[in-house]
Amino acid sequence: MTAQRIDGNALSQQLRAQVAADTAALKAQGLIPGLAVVLVGDNPASQVYVRNKVKACQDAGLHSVLEKYEATMSEADLLARVEALNNDPQIHGILVQLPLPAHIDAQKVIEAISPAKDVDGFHIASAGALMTGMPGFWPCTPYGCMKMLESIGYKLRGKHAVVIGRSNIVGKPMALMLLQENATVTICHSATPDLKAHTLQADVIVAAVGKRNVLTADMVKPGAVVLDVGMNRNEEGKLCGDVDFEGVSQVASYITPVPGGVGPMTITMLLVNTLESAKRALSAQH
Ligand code: GUN
Repeated sequence: MTAQRIDGNALSQQLRAQVAADTAALKAQGLIPGLAVVLVGDNPASQVYVRNKVKACQDAGLHSVLEKYEATMSEADLLARVEALNNDPQIHGILVQLPLPAHIDAQKVIEAISPAKDVDGFHIASAGALMTGMPGFWPCTPYGCMKMLESIGYKLRGKHAVVIGRSNIVGKPMALMLLQENATVTICHSATPDLKAHTLQADVIVAAVGKRNVLTADMVKPGAVVLDVGMNRNEEGKLCGDVDFEGVSQVASYITPVPGGVGPMTITMLLVNTLESAKRALSAQH
């Protein structure tokens, strides 16, 4: 079997075109969806990420502001900026880029963001909403994975999904989203003794560990769907995921590549969340 690729760039393009159309419609009603991206310090990877997020907003017609601060910014000053953005009616989404400098308590900053503007979905209120099936914002990366499954018409009900990784940003919310769609979900992690015994049972596998070759062909049931959230570099410095792409492609029915898979979907879902936040703000006015 040679797996079909799920093309994250193509799907992103489609979804971003829809975001742009909806944004234009909102503008006609006098509301421009706005995202504020806050970067503290000069982490090179973060600089690239925030630039891409702001550019994606501009391309889709959203209003965006990028606030950059020195690494020496105090926690109190950052909390004051977040509070100002909470009260800014032109801003519907607030994203504080992580990691923050060590002297700032990142969780405290995240909890200071109004849940109504928490388009990253990292606030405990957002996590609680996801856990209980209430309306709220879903973290962008696992949300993007769900959209990728939807794009191939995959029905999760009664299927067995195995998530490898238990981070608050990907693994745990991913498991809850799959559960919400009535999959049977197993979460595997670094203390799981026999990972392969679990993955061989899976109809869907999400690899979100951050380590190359976590998933190889011998660990995959023929016909399984494999989503690769990993972002690693190989010996030659080339971007690669957690999955042995060549090998697993021979066994799986669908697979997401790295790059060009889950990665572009993360920013796309940030736009989707920001647009949704603006729509909620508009309906709250009426
Ligand atoms: N750092 C790496 N990924 C992310 C993300 O999705 N959101 C934020 N805020 N910071 C990040």
